[in-house]
Amino acid sequence: MYKNWLQEFYQREIGGEARIFQSPGRINLIGEHTDYNGGYVLPAGIDKACYLAIGEASGDCTLIAYDLNEKISLNNCPPNLSSNHWINYLMGVRHAFEKRGFKIPHVNMLIRSDIPIGAGLSSSAALESVVAYAFNTIYGTGFSQLELAKIAQEAENDYVGLKCGIMDMFASIHAKKDHAIQLDCRSLEFQYVPLQMDGISILLFDTCLKHELASSAYNQRREECETVVRYWQAQGANATTLRDVSRSMLMEARPHLDPICFQRASFVLDENERVMAFAAAMQQGNWKAAGAQMAGSHAGLRDEYEVSCPELDHLVKVASQQEGVLGSRMMGGGFGGCTINLVKNELMEQVIEKTSASYKKAFGVEPKHYIATTGDGACEL
Ligand code: GLA
Repeated sequence: MYKNWLQEFYQREIGGEARIFQSPGRINLIGEHTDYNGGYVLPAGIDKACYLAIGEASGDCTLIAYDLNEKISLNNCPPNLSSNHWINYLMGVRHAFEKRGFKIPHVNMLIRSDIPIGAGLSSSAALESVVAYAFNTIYGTGFSQLELAKIAQEAENDYVGLKCGIMDMFASIHAKKDHAIQLDCRSLEFQYVPLQMDGISILLFDTCLKHELASSAYNQRREECETVVRYWQAQGANATTLRDVSRSMLMEARPHLDPICFQRASFVLDENERVMAFAAAMQQGNWKAAGAQMAGSHAGLRDEYEVSCPELDHLVKVASQQEGVLGSRMMGGGFGGCTINLVKNELMEQVIEKTSASYKKAFGVEPKHYIATTGDGACEL
């Protein structure tokens, strides 16, 4: 729907012909903080995306972020950009191509997105993914979809500084409408699982907040998990991630581990099991059983992994008590963003109303809500 708009805006503001690409945001049914631990995740692409109009630049590059109302010419790029400035997402992708031996010529880019920023729907991964996909298509670099996801992840890790896993970019690039992606982040093998949800929809409540320390706390969690892996490596075990650490290995190591590291690792092992249990329940259409796994996931994220916050806990608590809600939990990295809820369609309105009112009473602001519809992965329009 944005294709004509993007082409016209590009022509007016930058000039010349542009090709148009898109890559979606994502939800994650279950499997949080498991991706960088080599574990399982179950994301799906949504019908909100990051759109890119891209064309060759004859001289200086012009970059426009429409939603932020910013236009930057690379020749007079402001110095000391913060690491999460949108320019860094583009630079990061470009750099990852260069590292692989492909120098990307000067290009102009116009970006427009309808993925809410900071809602935990991976708007930044969608931006990195659409740029990687576009470079690969235009310059014929021939990278696989998996390699493109790795390139996008590298941009985030090295340029933005968030040591995230591969889930968000993988989902953005591989997404398939009406399907979730069951991904093993160790082997990177995956399968599409049909999301047949008769009479049930996925409802997201957005806390509309993102805590300042979210990314340092995220990197710290990752470090705590890696401590456990390093313990086993020092014992000579062939372990690369927590996925290679069994429950009995974890228990054996317990006396030698910092209790916090033990607690984090224990959560990750449980969460991997919950993803498998959720996927099995989902395939049988047993959404009640799937929802029970979501409750376990939230409790673990809150009490053991400690990445929730009062606002997320409140949304989950209030939603879970309501008729028609089969499952509810925080989604994504934590410290803000959204909760994901499985809700019976006939009770949807009531659930939205009651939960929103209770949140407003507790925190003074109305949460946003979205009914998530699945969408396809990165493509050229
Ligand atoms: C963020 C990261 C992902 C993943 C989730 C938590 O979205 O970008 O890689 O770790 O948090 O599951």
